[in-house]
Amino acid sequence: MIHEVIVTTVSEKNIVHIAPMGIQLIDDRVIISPFRPSQTLENITKNNLATINFIDDVRVFAGIVTKYKKDWELEDIKDKSVVPRLTLANTHYNVIAKEFKDDEKRPNIVCDISKKVIHKPFMGFNRAQFSVIEASVLVSRLRMLPIEKILQEIEYLKIGIKKTAGPRESQAWKWIEDKIQEFQKENMK
Ligand SMILES: Cc1cc2nc3c(=O)[nH]c(=O)nc-3n(C[C@H](O)[C@H](O)[C@H](O)COP(=O)(O)O)c2cc1C
Repeated sequence: MIHEVIVTTVSEKNIVHIAPMGIQLIDDRVIISPFRPSQTLENITKNNLATINFIDDVRVFAGIVTKYKKDWELEDIKDKSVVPRLTLANTHYNVIAKEFKDDEKRPNIVCDISKKVIHKPFMGFNRAQFSVIEASVLVSRLRMLPIEKILQEIEYLKIGIKKTAGPRESQAWKWIEDKIQEFQKENMK
């Protein structure tokens, strides 16, 4: 099972990086699988640290893949051995990388969990949130998938938005639609 989360990591220059990732939870260990090359992979390789943000505010996924909003508020912590979490996270796990299963495309990084904190309750499933997550994956593959397939899937995902979105999901969906339009304009030149 893959859990769609936001992974925060820290670079050598102490800059926090925020990226949507699909992780696995197996026997109380976390497996992160960043593509090569990626900032997330580079950061974890340098310091073995990451924080997993389980979050139902899907604006973070859409904001990052569209690049329309990349800076999200982080917890203010002084401890350099911990990567800050997003203040919007429902739950966060601090993790330490223990095992690196290399792969030329997508290595698996097996991590121990050093701390788990629940901040906000789970409020049930929401179809619009699912739509935004799926659409964010499509946006992150704009250059890899045929545009017709993307537009067709977006039309279907829009149903969940129309029927069940709140303000956060509507904002995220606007970013998704604007990004796809921007991409189409650039590629029709
Ligand atoms: C829901 C979702 C799941 C994703 N899962 C992964 C993943 O498991 N590994 C990965 O490398 N990128 C994943 N991506 C794409 C990355 O978020 C995106 O490419 C990002 O820029 C990662 O590269 P970076 O660490 O250099 O920022 C996912 C995107 C979305 C929207």
